[in-house]
Amino acid sequence: MNHNSAAMIKKILQFPKTVSIMEVGPRDGLQNEKVILGTNDKISFINSLSQAGYKRIEITAFVSPKWIPPLADHNDVARGITKYPNISYAALVPNLFGYEKARDAGIDEVSIVLSASQTHNKKNINATTQEAFERYKEVVKTAIKDKIPIRAYLSCSFACPYEGAMDPQVVALLCLKLYELGVYEVSLSDTIGVASPFNILRLLEETLKYVPIKSLGLHLHDTFGMALANILAGLQVGITSFDSSAGGMGGCPYAKGALGNVASEDLLYMLHSMGIETGVSLSKVCDASLQIEKKLQKMLSAKVLNNYRVGLKSEK
Ligand code: HMG
Ligand code: MG
Repeated sequence: MNHNSAAMIKKILQFPKTVSIMEVGPRDGLQNEKVILGTNDKISFINSLSQAGYKRIEITAFVSPKWIPPLADHNDVARGITKYPNISYAALVPNLFGYEKARDAGIDEVSIVLSASQTHNKKNINATTQEAFERYKEVVKTAIKDKIPIRAYLSCSFACPYEGAMDPQVVALLCLKLYELGVYEVSLSDTIGVASPFNILRLLEETLKYVPIKSLGLHLHDTFGMALANILAGLQVGITSFDSSAGGMGGCPYAKGALGNVASEDLLYMLHSMGIETGVSLSKVCDASLQIEKKLQKMLSAKVLNNYRVGLKSEK
């Protein structure tokens, strides 16, 4: 190996020492399951995730129960969980009504969702992109006044199931508009899980012209099995905030073809193997997933969970 290659590897190996994970299984995961779990089962799942060491858990969504029936019990879930100190319990809200309900139920932080695609916004939140921005201006203003941290998902950041590939320059400017509203983070979201590491780097190249890296996260569905490779690309440029879902559950009912998120177990295994700290116990997340898959009556897709199920309990 020549000197240049060794120097290049040394540079590549400079990964962040710690990353922050938002566990989205109870929201993104359960919103897309055929079996609708009972409230107590959800509460017990969230309590197990709290014991696993997460610092941020998205526990539900204060959305219309007509649009997302599996999360209709958002109030009871938010009020029923055991709240651990130092954990931020988050919820997704699509409008001011949902925000106020979330705040009144004791939610610690909220997420709004906007899509880079007009068609997906209409299908998902029944608003044009412009209408959604107007709604969210009020939501962000109120959250800031209430001192409730707020972040944003930018759905279809790479591609839309209705409109196809997104233009990174257009997505980067939308990301800037969200950031300027006052959110602490924009989670660039691959809703249908089609991006490759090239797409991640290309979008980051554009977005970093406008938004600081500490205010960007990645929310990656794993339809084509690219999510971990995409996270590695993000890590290499210094992204330190990632969303993942226990067992690999997830999907958006209003985005055809959206499969599960990157599985928390697989992400933890990769990060811990690389010496990157998360504060989360992989085996405890596996136990929480095994508990929920029994209730869902199906095997969850996380690869590390498959190994754990047959007794390979490597604590990474
Ligand atoms: P709409 O039908 O235009 O709303 O839906 P509306 O204002 O006309 O109200 C209709 C009814 O909903 C009324 O009740 C309202 O009170 C009620 P009714 O009088 O008919 O009995 N309503 C609400 N109820 C509870 N909570 C609320 C709320 N707002 C109104 N917040 C709306 C507009 C935004 C409400 C609807 O489209 C909606 O709830 N959409 C949410 C869809 C959703 O949750 N999709 C999945 C999450 S996004 C996702 O998964 C992507 C993500 O993971 C990132 C990625 O992967 O890309 C985040
Ligand atoms: Mg999602």
